[in-house]
Amino acid sequence: MDYSIESLPLDKLQTDCIIVGLYENLSLTPSASHINQCSQNLISRFIERGDCKGKVGETALINWLPDTSFARVLLVGLGKSDEMNGKNYRNALAAAIKAIRDSGLKSAACTLTEINVEKRDLTWKTRQIVEVFDDALYQFKHCKTVIENEYKTDRISIVVSENQQADAQTGLIQGQAIAGGVSLAKQLADLPGNICTPTYLAEQAQSIAERFASMSVEILEEADMEKLGMGALLSVSRGSRQPAKLIALNYHGGEKHGKPIVLIGKGLTFDAGGISLKPGLGMDEMKYDMCGGASVLGTLQAAAEMQLPLNIVGLVPSSENLPDGDANKPGDIVTSMSGKTIEILNTDAEGRLLLCDTLTYAQKFDPEAVIDLATLTGACIVALGRVPSGLFGNDDALCNDLVKAGETASDSVWRLPLWEEYQELLKSNFADMANIGGKDAGTITAACFLSKYAENFRWAHLDIAGTAWRTGLTKGATGRPVPLLTQFLLDRCRA
Ligand code: BES
Ligand code: MN
Ligand code: ZN
Repeated sequence: MDYSIESLPLDKLQTDCIIVGLYENLSLTPSASHINQCSQNLISRFIERGDCKGKVGETALINWLPDTSFARVLLVGLGKSDEMNGKNYRNALAAAIKAIRDSGLKSAACTLTEINVEKRDLTWKTRQIVEVFDDALYQFKHCKTVIENEYKTDRISIVVSENQQADAQTGLIQGQAIAGGVSLAKQLADLPGNICTPTYLAEQAQSIAERFASMSVEILEEADMEKLGMGALLSVSRGSRQPAKLIALNYHGGEKHGKPIVLIGKGLTFDAGGISLKPGLGMDEMKYDMCGGASVLGTLQAAAEMQLPLNIVGLVPSSENLPDGDANKPGDIVTSMSGKTIEILNTDAEGRLLLCDTLTYAQKFDPEAVIDLATLTGACIVALGRVPSGLFGNDDALCNDLVKAGETASDSVWRLPLWEEYQELLKSNFADMANIGGKDAGTITAACFLSKYAENFRWAHLDIAGTAWRTGLTKGATGRPVPLLTQFLLDRCRA
């Protein structure tokens, strides 16, 4: 995809279609109004016929503007101007790019930077155009030999006035970096488990690191993890023929000895549940159990592309969870790297077994803060649906920063409690703790389990089970929470 900022007069733009806006009171955005004047009021006459009412997300393509140089105009409904907020703006953009894409057009110019959006500036608007458009133009092609309806759109111009160029450029750079990170996360996540194995993920991390002088990577093999005493993590991979990997991707953009932000992403490349086997229906979706890891790689790539003045470590513990003669059995007790013993009452609660050892390992980086992200519990979807990610943490300032970043990035999170009362549920008769807490508050008890391994640093946990991929007819990865995490990092640079 080719995105550029343009400040040419509209009639000089080389494009298949100009995207302009229409409010619900039928007033036109400045660009719409300009084109209207050049075309003997064609747009007003079109609207008068009642085919476009300006509701958010409504679109109408006018493909013939006589006596002008405009090839086409796409009218996009914006709703009421005093209700134009971030959400409506993104909905209008999504409708616009869908119409362009589905009309098979190669290029478009977007003038929607000129509308006022509550609390948002030009940089934000420019960035959203890139992020929303790129999201709609993503197609998974890796495993198809015939691609029906291949999207043709590959060139987007973002129109701003001359004096807005600098702010728009900032938005463009951020938007491209974030969209690139989202796209990487989606690609990796949409790949099936037989292609995207722990080894494959490790190779991807290596090739990202090769592209940036500011990056380095270390892959810990099972023997290395053995030496570190990662008995919880290794107990999961014992049931799989694919060797586990612990990926450590380093980005050094900050001061030489500056403390890093550590991001930990669950990288279960397929979760069958192990001996506590999952039901068959929809089990294919458990290829998405590595979305946390994919988002860590996407976020680090975005940070490196923007050359953020921060140090960031991305840790991705990666394994499969399969039933096997050597797999964990319910009742088995393992010793984690921290020394704590864990009774595995359900082998399907494997994510926390990987994460607990990785949290212990994170300590060696003397972290400024640690954020883990994991498709950890089905219970999170029961609690919050598929709108926000679940947020937990032991530091209010860190959690508040994440909530704020989620709002700015339109990648929301909702905080849930980690009260002491819940810890009771993880008691074991035979080990220091159990790996499940029973049927109540499943997303909270999972986070409680992790919290016991995160006592020595500022820590937040994101349960992304409901947000990392879409189920049903439009099944596919979303790339969340790359936008949230990148925004969090951007905010850190300003702080
Ligand atoms: N990867 C799953 C969580 C999951 C399930 C995410 C469905 C998205 C959709 C995780 O490893 C898991 O199996 N969790 C169990 C925990 C339970 C055994 C306490 C779950 O949620 O059922
Ligand atoms: Mn599981
Ligand atoms: Zn899992």
